[in-house]
Amino acid sequence: MPETNSITDTRATVVETRRISHDVTVITLDCPAIAASAKPGNFVNIKVSDTTLPLLRRPFSIHNVRGGLIDIMVKAAGRGSALFCDSTKGSTMMVLGPLGTCFDISGNKFNTAILVSGGIGTAPMLFLEKELKAKGIKVINLIGGRTKEELLAQELSNCRLATDDGSAGFRGTVVELLREELPALKQDGALKVFSCGPNPMLKAVAAFCREQSLRCDISLESVMGCGIGICYGCSVEVKKPDGGLRTILLCQEGPVIDAELLAV
Ligand SMILES: Cc1cc2nc3c(=O)[nH]c(=O)nc-3n(C[C@H](O)[C@H](O)[C@H](O)COP(=O)(O)OP(=O)(O)OC[C@H]3O[C@@H](n4cnc5c(N)ncnc54)[C@H](O)[C@@H]3O)c2cc1C
Ligand code: FES
Repeated sequence: MPETNSITDTRATVVETRRISHDVTVITLDCPAIAASAKPGNFVNIKVSDTTLPLLRRPFSIHNVRGGLIDIMVKAAGRGSALFCDSTKGSTMMVLGPLGTCFDISGNKFNTAILVSGGIGTAPMLFLEKELKAKGIKVINLIGGRTKEELLAQELSNCRLATDDGSAGFRGTVVELLREELPALKQDGALKVFSCGPNPMLKAVAAFCREQSLRCDISLESVMGCGIGICYGCSVEVKKPDGGLRTILLCQEGPVIDAELLAV
């Protein structure tokens, strides 16, 4: 996966907050240095409070870049993310980034991108969609959630939806939707899949793409402490070419990896 350089640790001001569902808020931060070198799939590590609660920073994908601003789409999952969701316009916080690997949209081996996301995993897709479209690549979004309230399709184009309970779109998982849609999508030429969501969903996407010989990048999640390769809190096992396993630090060799590393 391509990597980023020019990492900055900056005190950023919150310029806007926008609640988009009962537990998800989009927060806009003014951080021109990070915005200038961010690539889709990168994340930032944010000290959401000036107190020691929580002590460690929290990792969040870059949802969008607009000039010198970055948007973060945050789901209140625990104390840190809930505090972040409640941040107010004009408040400031330390933001380290851009960090990690990015989605590989280089070269000209595909002309249609299928963006498969689930739950808060849809967060990095807006930035990715924008960059793909700027390269003239067609984008289709397959977006999943347990219920229609969990779908985060705002601002994305060409969306096909899946819910576990059938309350919107296809009834079933987003991977089942991908299986259903694939024959028609193959008419669009060379495809590449980009995926982010809960790790079990990503395993299913990786296995499906392997079965179908589709190129696929996935953005994995793990608990992260430092975000810069020091704490070893983000170790995950991936597959080696010989079938054995090796351990990577997800903040360094991820979060975006080739799905082949995960496929079983
Ligand atoms: C590379 C990366 C990008 C991410 N991007 C986003 C994003 O764009 N938007 C978003 O809302 N969330 C994102 N997350 C998840 C987010 O970092 C966690 O929800 C957050 O750190 C939880 O902190 P907390 O203090 O709110 O919860 P805690 O009280 O620490 O934990 C609450 C729950 O979240 C789980 N958790 C804690 N840390 C993580 C973690 N790093 N990853 C996954 N689960 C965790 C805990 O096991 C627990 O179940 C991302 C995570 C990673 C690794
Ligand atoms: S988060 Fe500390 S080593 Fe990766």
